[in-house]
Amino acid sequence: MNTGLAPAVFSVDQIRKDFPLLAGEINGKPLVYLDNAATAQKPESVIRRMDRYYRQENANVHRGIHTLSQNATTAYESTRSQVREFLNAREEEELIFTSGTTEGINLVAATFARQMLKPGDEILISAMEHHSNIVPWQMALEEKGGRLRVIPMNDRGELILEGLDQLLTGKTRLVAVSHMSNTLGTINPVKEIIRQAHDRGIPVLVDAAQSVPHLPVDVQELDCDFLVFSGHKVFGPTGIGILYGKKELLDSLPPYHGGGDMIKTVTFEKTTYNDLPFRLEAGTPNIAAGIGLGEAIAYLNRLDRAAALKHEQELLAEATEKMTEIPGLRLIGTAAHKGSVISFVMASAHPADIGMILDQEGIAVRTGHHCTQPVMKQFNIPATARASFAFYNTTEEVDRLVRALRKINDLFG
Ligand code: ALA
Repeated sequence: MNTGLAPAVFSVDQIRKDFPLLAGEINGKPLVYLDNAATAQKPESVIRRMDRYYRQENANVHRGIHTLSQNATTAYESTRSQVREFLNAREEEELIFTSGTTEGINLVAATFARQMLKPGDEILISAMEHHSNIVPWQMALEEKGGRLRVIPMNDRGELILEGLDQLLTGKTRLVAVSHMSNTLGTINPVKEIIRQAHDRGIPVLVDAAQSVPHLPVDVQELDCDFLVFSGHKVFGPTGIGILYGKKELLDSLPPYHGGGDMIKTVTFEKTTYNDLPFRLEAGTPNIAAGIGLGEAIAYLNRLDRAAALKHEQELLAEATEKMTEIPGLRLIGTAAHKGSVISFVMASAHPADIGMILDQEGIAVRTGHHCTQPVMKQFNIPATARASFAFYNTTEEVDRLVRALRKINDLFG
């Protein structure tokens, strides 16, 4: 019986057996799952671990004296310790459980940004941010009378850092930038951006939702001040994510949500707040998902991640080459340094039609603006189709995608 544990030697055939959904069919065809940037599939080990928690271990955390509750707390908290190691954070207190990347950014916007911002202040983001790394800052800036500034990008989808000097001003309170673009695949030189921001004493938040599933991410090496990612994109469950923050910064934040777990004492006159990390984690958390995230990280730790990344880069190179040869197909995002995401448009068909026809072939891609409307505006397109690869995808799947895209040209061309 397959245990869903990653094989010791990188073998796509073996790895695929760990992910039950990949063996399925869609519309009578073997599934080709190329929507990993939206959410990744889950290995058997994660599914079983969560099932076991609900069947045998379900209890609330941080509250009970009884054995089940203590065991649940130990399991849930051991994920925090795994995440510490996974990101190379200094201390467990630097890791806050959230519901996902979006909540992590909203937490920083609601606490850090609202505390810091004065009229006329600025937050600097980049031209390729996901809406979740734009809108929370706009909301805080609007309230405080500040303004959003944007690092521009060229038409390959690479950030133009020559003018960064002028964008980092005495009014900049925070830089918030994506490590890897969900739409363009661009891997941004965040370490360089952080260095330049820190030269001026400006903290940096890294949106690592797309990078953590593919690249090693070391918060001490990056020296980022905040970093966020989601469990469901790293082969774990939905409803759980991580906000990393340097301890001194997190310590300085006002409370976020009020409620149980985040307090020390409550009277009707005054409440005193708990220590990190609990001060920023009100209410019963998503315990099963937290435990599932730990299992997903354990899966990644067993995997040869360097080989996995190499495999993904080979898939990206092969798909890029073969798709470039398709008449009328235009790649959106051709940065020199890219992760395994390919956005494209076709002269013969609208992205929504591409998505529908691929679906009939059993091929799952995402179509639309990918929550990056400003990126669509810059490229002067309403939408793209996007194929995004994980380490369990195969060269045969690239071939099926390319064949189906050629078929679209035959049908509509
Ligand atoms: N932000 C995710 C994506 O790009 C959902 O698909």
